[in-house]
Amino acid sequence: MAFFFFMYFLRSDWHCNKTYPAISNYCVLRGKAIGSVFGENSDCFRNFAVNKTDMALFDTYIIIVAAGSGSRFGSEIPKQFCLLAGKPVVMHAIESLRRALPDSRQIIVISKEEEPRWNELCERYSFDSPTVAYGGATRWASVKNGLAAIPAEAKPNSIVLIHDGARPLVDAPTVKRVCGATINTDGAIPAIAVSDSLRRMGKDGVSSEAVDRNDFRAIQTPQGFKLWGLREAYSLPYQSSFTDDASVMAEAGFENVTLVEGSPDNIKITNPRDIVIAEAILSQE
Ligand code: C5P
Repeated sequence: MAFFFFMYFLRSDWHCNKTYPAISNYCVLRGKAIGSVFGENSDCFRNFAVNKTDMALFDTYIIIVAAGSGSRFGSEIPKQFCLLAGKPVVMHAIESLRRALPDSRQIIVISKEEEPRWNELCERYSFDSPTVAYGGATRWASVKNGLAAIPAEAKPNSIVLIHDGARPLVDAPTVKRVCGATINTDGAIPAIAVSDSLRRMGKDGVSSEAVDRNDFRAIQTPQGFKLWGLREAYSLPYQSSFTDDASVMAEAGFENVTLVEGSPDNIKITNPRDIVIAEAILSQE
């Protein structure tokens, strides 16, 4: 009986204010926190077991940001709409996310000028578009607009995943690891070890010094957070240091963000050769 009351309490919205982290901490004890087997420094990653019952307790929204111009990619068409194995990059991302979380609701953020192209692509590929929101000048502004498209009456403890539309090869295990850790903490971000040697550049932009690559991780998406925390964090004024959602959350005081194991295949399409790499990865599946 007490268990069912506790589950009802978790699901309800009464506790979704600043006292919520205390409940999250309780969940950390309750959850099975285990170091994942991963790379040289595996102990910095934490896996939280997540099962269907856990997930059923939380509504899930996914914001797919796809409003960038992709200037580094160098094509007329933004990279997220370029074809990868015969289908636009962002459609691969949405399909992977839908397969991982079939009960989620998705929002795609595109630039207003690209809406006719998006509608045309959806028709051509018989693709059921997520809810559309319009992007802004920065990724931060695009996420903020995507967040505003989540209904005001959504449960504050809903899980929100934010994913780069330019990462078409996101896999279900990564998505589920992020969800599991988001349930139990302030948020979760997938990360992978860095294989290249790294150097820190001096202020002069010429000198450099070696740094230990074991101290660093490359960060991927989707990044997961609770809706109420994200709303609070994205109400802060913009700062140029906001490179991803975790940095916005940290500014709002949500420090208990967990690194979970990402996937080396979850690449971000940045240059045209990334399409070739992604097609090679897809062909292995
Ligand atoms: O430019 P970059 O590859 O880092 O962008 C990451 C993701 O953020 C991409 O999917 C891009 O479309 C999206 N983005 C956006 N709005 C912007 C800038 C980037 O939705 N103003």
